Amino acid sequence: MTSVFYLYQKLIIKIGCFIKVGRLLYKNNLPYANLKAFGEIGLWLYILLIVMEKIKIVPFNSQMREEVISLLMDAYQDYPQYGEATRKQAKKYINWLKNHSTLFEVAYMDGRPAGFIVADANWKDLKGKKVGEIHELAVRKEFWDRGIGKKLLERAVKHFRERGLDTAGLWAGDKNERAIRFYKKNGFQDTGLVYYGWLRMERKL
Ligand SMILES: CC(C)(COP(=O)(O)OP(=O)(O)OC[C@H]1O[C@@H](n2cnc3c(N)ncnc32)[C@H](O)[C@@H]1OP(=O)(O)O)[C@@H](O)C(=O)NCCC(=O)NCCS
Repeated sequence: MTSVFYLYQKLIIKIGCFIKVGRLLYKNNLPYANLKAFGEIGLWLYILLIVMEKIKIVPFNSQMREEVISLLMDAYQDYPQYGEATRKQAKKYINWLKNHSTLFEVAYMDGRPAGFIVADANWKDLKGKKVGEIHELAVRKEFWDRGIGKKLLERAVKHFRERGLDTAGLWAGDKNERAIRFYKKNGFQDTGLVYYGWLRMERKL
């Protein structure tokens, strides 16, 4: 639904732009036929752009390490306290993630690395209950708000369900409003538990 709404919203903005340009043409006494043709070409170009915008999600492999490190550093630029301070630390973290995951996938948009998710279906929460844990989800900033985070999260949810789990959990930075809002929108609840600046969020599967 969100996706359809989003495309609709984008379409409305574009139509608004056409009307503005149309008015300009009109003011300059350009014929209506020109305006109509201009609007139609614009609309078709826009539809073509949407059709061409492709997301491909593939499993992580070691050749992707450097681009995933860059992606991680980029994604946390607004919240450096929750990211890795250096590439060296990011490299160590990616290695840790590789060894503590049952799902590690990278999303490419138009062939460019755009985001990744790391999930573990063998995790136990602080009470010892088996849960599906989202260890990391990061999207390169220029690709935010295009539904990539949601798509990656859906892959993890599907993965956990296939493993017979009933709960998914994660720790979000307690000041990371964007991530908290994103997870709430995607069915997670704030459990109220905060541990060294990390907020525990969970959802039923
Ligand atoms: C949090 C994060 C993963 C979200 O990724 P994203 O790709 O921007 O997420 P989405 O595009 O799926 O959803 C974000 C918003 O875009 C909207 N949206 C825009 N285009 C959309 C589309 N085509 N389809 C679905 N939703 C769309 C959603 O409704 C949502 O709205 P909101 O801002 O009101 O919450 C990303 O911001 C990020 O990497 N942040 C830095 C790292 C981080 O904090 N990670 C979390 C670790 S706990």
